[in-house]
Amino acid sequence: MRNVVFVAPFPLETTKRFMRATAQVHGVRLLGVFQEAPPDSAGIGFEGFELVPDGLDAGAITAATRRLAARFGGIHRVIGVLEALQGPLAQVRAELGVPGEDVASAERFRDKSVMKDAFRAAGVPCARHKLLTGADDAVRFIQEVGYPIVIKPPSGVGCRSTYRVDDANSLRDVLAELSPSPHRVMLAEEFLRGEESTFETITLGGEPVFHSISRYLPGPLEVLRNPWIQYVVHLPRNIWSPQYDDIRRVGVAAIKALGMRDGVTHMEWFRRPDGSLAIGEVAMRPPGVHLVRMMGLAYDTDFYRVWARAVIDGAWDGPWDRQYSVGCAFLRGTGRGRVSRVDGVQEVERALGWLVAEARLPQVGMPKADGYEGEGYVIVKHPDDTVVQRALKTIIETIRVHYS
Ligand SMILES: Nc1ncnc2c1ncn2[C@@H]1O[C@H](COP(=O)(O)OP(=O)(O)O)[C@@H](O)[C@H]1O
Ligand SMILES: [Mg+2]
Repeated sequence: MRNVVFVAPFPLETTKRFMRATAQVHGVRLLGVFQEAPPDSAGIGFEGFELVPDGLDAGAITAATRRLAARFGGIHRVIGVLEALQGPLAQVRAELGVPGEDVASAERFRDKSVMKDAFRAAGVPCARHKLLTGADDAVRFIQEVGYPIVIKPPSGVGCRSTYRVDDANSLRDVLAELSPSPHRVMLAEEFLRGEESTFETITLGGEPVFHSISRYLPGPLEVLRNPWIQYVVHLPRNIWSPQYDDIRRVGVAAIKALGMRDGVTHMEWFRRPDGSLAIGEVAMRPPGVHLVRMMGLAYDTDFYRVWARAVIDGAWDGPWDRQYSVGCAFLRGTGRGRVSRVDGVQEVERALGWLVAEARLPQVGMPKADGYEGEGYVIVKHPDDTVVQRALKTIIETIRVHYS
């Protein structure tokens, strides 16, 4: 049996899907390190686990993994899907001599400024950037690149503390909010205009062997800045048209510039109005926004398992045909408080129920979520892109979430 340690501070529903897939890989004994244990750890397939006071702390995870090794024997892999864990997990591996992504590579994926330096050195197009240790740095950067710019933490996630700065007024507000200093370094980037998309890979031995593309409608930051928007993610069925030839080439170069070995990556990229492209960022973990579930539907396979096979066995079971166009509409509305009513659900069910592959509707009483994913979602699939696009449009035009 190969002992695989799955680290997850607070295992959420999606994390459990990755855990179950890990337990099902041939010859794996699933072990856990948690801050808070999942209620059904044995049902998920855990044969043992350790609790730590801080589930993101490399030292605590290392000690817990040593305790598991003492009980169960040598450790084959230490894995996890959370963005903020990728650095600590690399440290744990280095400390214990466990194979997997190393500290330098994790740092290139995690720190958006280190990442952009690596891109530029490899000729991968990306936004110009500057680290800010004070307000003056921001002013100088704007003199160089002009408005708008984006200011954000160098290792943020989920658009947290991420701001678009359009003019001197918004610059003043954002600097007051983030107050960059030598102890609180912020990242400024030239604002990339255009459409935002994703590029996921399965990478084995440093070579991307598979990729998938999806569209953000619109980009996450624009969704957050416009509370009325119900966000949509679409995986077009046909990704082999020439319009994607450049991202195929540049996307692979971007992964190689960062030095990932075995796993699933999640990249965000922009198509500018002039047709050129720029890479936004890449993560050395599977994507969020239900993309793993959606890729599974598009290829009629289980992508939670695909991730587990890549990180545990350094292998994949593809290729698969992209048989479906798949889209996800995220449900939310304007206002504050708790969900008081959801309109339009029956209409959508009647008209589009046959296309729905998975849905979780906002429940009355749920507190309003502050992210772009809202309080619920509907995933639709069909072989035809236009059918899926039309369905997504109908869903976001028909379902209305109210709060009070
Ligand atoms: N330089 C930029 N130009 C345009 N949009 C940006 C830029 N940086 C970030 N954004 C927007 O903000 C979102 C979040 O930023 P990102 O760098 O992806 O950080 P994270 O996803 O880790 O929070 C992006 O998906 C994009 O919509
Ligand atoms: Mg991002």
